Amino acid sequence: MLADDSNNDEKCRTRRLEITDKNKGFIELLRQLTVCDSVSDKEFEDRFRELACEGDDHVICVVEENETGKIIATGSVFIEKKFIRKCGKVGHIEDVVVDANARGMQLGKKIIEFLTEHARSMGCYKVILDCSAENRVFYEKCGFKEKEIQMVKYFP
Ligand SMILES: CC(C)(COP(=O)(O)OP(=O)(O)OC[C@H]1O[C@@H](n2cnc3c(N)ncnc32)[C@H](O)[C@@H]1OP(=O)(O)O)[C@@H](O)C(=O)NCCC(=O)NCCS
Repeated sequence: MLADDSNNDEKCRTRRLEITDKNKGFIELLRQLTVCDSVSDKEFEDRFRELACEGDDHVICVVEENETGKIIATGSVFIEKKFIRKCGKVGHIEDVVVDANARGMQLGKKIIEFLTEHARSMGCYKVILDCSAENRVFYEKCGFKEKEIQMVKYFP
């Protein structure tokens, strides 16, 4: 999906991740979400190209601040292909974070709208995500509703 004018204003631009975004604070932004060790330029480029091969099935969206050129928000969506529901597709939203200095300015909502619209345009019948209780209201304001529980098993 291409970013159109509705994703842009005088302050920032919402678009897909580009290979040069490592130098624009993308990794530092992810560190505000969770553990993200240092990623070398080669590791970043290798992973970027790997994801690019998945085309529209795996999209990382970013918001770039026009004045500073910094990446101040991000999130991703990948498209799962199923056999159920007439070989339906489901969008999984992951790794949503807005820079601490830019929160409360509707950027999180902007990211979710971009990713949700992408999943819709890919023919998904639903889009899902996991979140902490403290972010429930944010996602409700983005049009999501709580359903079931999350289970996880970490590998050592
Ligand atoms: C959660 C997060 C992405 C929200 O981003 P944001 O840009 O600050 O949110 P927005 O400004 O787009 O908020 C949209 C609406 O949700 C509300 N909202 C945002 N975060 C909220 C929260 N934690 N609790 C209650 N309401 C919240 C806003 O007040 C706003 O309401 P409004 O439309 O009525 O004005 C951001 O706080 C963040 O990056 N947190 C740390 C990382 C994280 O927890 N990521 C989510 C992983 S699941």
